[in-house]
Amino acid sequence: MLKNPTSVCALAPSSRMLARAMASGLEIDSDESVMELGPGTGALTDQIRHIITDGGEYIGIELEPRFVGLLRERFPNLRFEQNSVTRAFQVHADSGTPPVKAVISGLSISTMPGPVIDEIIVNLDRLLRPGSVFRMFQYVHAYYLPSAIRFRRRMSSLFSDYRCDALVVRNLPPAFVLTWTR
Ligand SMILES: C[S@@+](CC[C@H](N)C(=O)[O-])C[C@H]1O[C@@H](n2cnc3c(N)ncnc32)[C@H](O)[C@@H]1O
Repeated sequence: MLKNPTSVCALAPSSRMLARAMASGLEIDSDESVMELGPGTGALTDQIRHIITDGGEYIGIELEPRFVGLLRERFPNLRFEQNSVTRAFQVHADSGTPPVKAVISGLSISTMPGPVIDEIIVNLDRLLRPGSVFRMFQYVHAYYLPSAIRFRRRMSSLFSDYRCDALVVRNLPPAFVLTWTR
């Protein structure tokens, strides 16, 4: 975080409790894939891999080359692309993986620059089909930032169903789990 404060934006990897909440209730079937945005060192990935049934696929997009190296060592059966989430639609198209059933974000979206947030929304709009899900966490201290409120409003205008599922207090910092279904 000290080396790349604007992109990493977290004091510590997500806790196991938050990772479980982020994967809870999701299942990726054989003709579907799950995309993770900003897997970092794999705290969420460790739980996400368990929701993938036989034949389902995973694709993680991480900007930091050092994290990508770590992720490939830690999860040799999963696919990681060193790229920006602002290119998520194209990265998925190039990967040949099945349609995306769920996008799970490990990004600290509300502290990212406005143009990057706009690009992320454009990509989600292009990636997700009816029935698909977008899930993210939002740190409690950032929940009422204007950028966070604006992001939720824009997502809710694109995705019909919005839920704030849980407040995970055993995480540093505590975080809400938010889910949109198209
Ligand atoms: C808040 S950290 C969370 C890491 C991990 N998901 C977790 O929950 O512990 C955000 C991660 O997103 C990555 N990231 C930030 N901006 C990105 C971008 N534009 N494209 C891809 N990854 C990005 C960072 O390198 C970092 O690994």
